[in-house]
Amino acid sequence: MRVVIQENYDKMCKWAADYIADRINSHKEDRPFVLGLPTGSSPIGVYKELIKKNKAGEVSFQNVVTFNMDEYLGLPREHDQSYWYFMHDEFFDHIEIPAENINILNGMTDDPEGECARYEEKIASYGGIDLFMGGIGVDGHLAFNEPFTSLTSRTGVRDLTTDTRIVNSRFFGNDPEKVPSQALSVGIGTVTDSKEVLVLINGHNKARALAAVVEGNVSHKWTCSALQMHNNAIIACDEAACGEITVDTYKYFLDIEKNERL
Ligand code: GLP
Repeated sequence: MRVVIQENYDKMCKWAADYIADRINSHKEDRPFVLGLPTGSSPIGVYKELIKKNKAGEVSFQNVVTFNMDEYLGLPREHDQSYWYFMHDEFFDHIEIPAENINILNGMTDDPEGECARYEEKIASYGGIDLFMGGIGVDGHLAFNEPFTSLTSRTGVRDLTTDTRIVNSRFFGNDPEKVPSQALSVGIGTVTDSKEVLVLINGHNKARALAAVVEGNVSHKWTCSALQMHNNAIIACDEAACGEITVDTYKYFLDIEKNERL
């Protein structure tokens, strides 16, 4: 696993956007580049950078197919807290990407299991995901794979923990009861099947999670720790998130990464 430590949030986002653009631009196969995407506050700066690059002609999304990580169950697209709304508002409405290339789980489906099975099939029909970008929750959850979700899980229905509903209540008038109690989410196995995984971890409130994921054991308690078993996983983080890793670990990654541009 690579851990790329950047001085602050803006630099972390710039680095991640440069990395994603480089991967898209290096893709020479006939089939589209398949990109997995998250919501949340963490990726917003990355989306802003990618939008700038798209407008500057530095990266094109014409041959990119996207799959989002998750969606709240029971929220219509038009709800300003649905992940469909978030993705269009923060990213898709500002880049040139064919609408048919965008895939987001349908939170209003009357057949959640079928919706999730079809999502997995569609990912497979493109030959899998080339690069999955993610963020994590303070408890280390990846997508909506809460603690103790199987590390081989596939796309499915997830119950949200009280902790996550409390954390996410900041977007729902600070009322955890207003946060949907279930979501549709790709599984940990869906993410780790991707050729590359890039997870953003920033801010003091993610310091415990970063330490668990980088220095802890592979454990379903911190589902993001499954990345330790991935051959091509990168964590991009900021200094603020490094408060709980040991000085040795911190120095190791600064040293090993010092000559890498991307
Ligand atoms: C939600 C999402 C996750 C996201 C997490 C962290 O629970 N389902 O995919 O990574 O929030 O969000 P933030 O980046 O706002 O801290």
